[in-house]
Amino acid sequence: MNFENILIEHNNSLATVIINRPKKLNALNRATIKDLSKAFKALAKDKKTRAIILTGNGEKAFVAGADISEFANYSVKEGKDLAAKGQQALFNLIENLSTPVIAAVNGFALGGGLELAMACHFRIASNNAKMGLPEVSLGVIPGYGGTQRLPQLIGKGRAMELIMSAGMIDAEKALSYGLVNYVVPQEELLPLCLKIAGKITNNSPVAISYAIKAVNAGFKNNAKGFETEINAFGSCFGTADFREGTTAFLEKRKAEFPGT
Ligand code: COA
Repeated sequence: MNFENILIEHNNSLATVIINRPKKLNALNRATIKDLSKAFKALAKDKKTRAIILTGNGEKAFVAGADISEFANYSVKEGKDLAAKGQQALFNLIENLSTPVIAAVNGFALGGGLELAMACHFRIASNNAKMGLPEVSLGVIPGYGGTQRLPQLIGKGRAMELIMSAGMIDAEKALSYGLVNYVVPQEELLPLCLKIAGKITNNSPVAISYAIKAVNAGFKNNAKGFETEINAFGSCFGTADFREGTTAFLEKRKAEFPGT
């Protein structure tokens, strides 16, 4: 299979998917989402692959968000489509994959990057990792499931604060919040993921796929939450705040939000 922006390494029954746009801090553009969707669909069908690790190339970022340069001029409809199609093609796909997916968070996991890590079955971080949902600093909201999965993982109050403040937390705080399961030095991140994945692959793949389904079923009463997120995300694309927020990011200056 040919991919533009990802690499896949196979090691016996484990596959490591590496997002490979380090110069753009692995920001998720359309092509990368397409590559990831194709790769996860293929890996899910591959009976030899019993666990998948998802990480970013380079030492700085897992994924620094959705690619802001790509959506800055989108209309309300295009914004809504971006969230709806992205959720379906990638984020929901990973969450419901019958093969276990571990996010190896090797640096910044911001916006769509944290949403991607949260769609994985669990997360392990390197000690330089920083996580957050900075969307409201751009005049938009998380659109790839972040308003739903963050409160599931860390509780409503902490999620509200993180989303509204557009702040970033470090790996230790993410560990204390239960957002990640372990924090290790960067050079130990993939070895630890491989070790845990190795334990998983000793177990019954059929039973594991049922366990994923059962755990996820407990959170499936929030379909309206995801739908509300998609509609609200789309609405942001019609605001002056969104135009100012994205323009300011691309012009590398602080945004002055008009509040309309
Ligand atoms: N979309 C598009 N490009 C991005 C990006 C994103 N989400 N995040 C980083 N990049 C690009 C930068 O524009 C820059 O490109 P350039 O070299 O062509 O100018 C390159 O990646 C390196 O990023 P830079 O900002 O120079 O690195 P930094 O170390 O100074 O800052 C961050 C790192 C993560 C704090 C900063 O890149 C950032 O705030 N990114 C956006 C995070 C965000 O808001 N994500 C949510 C999107 S909805």
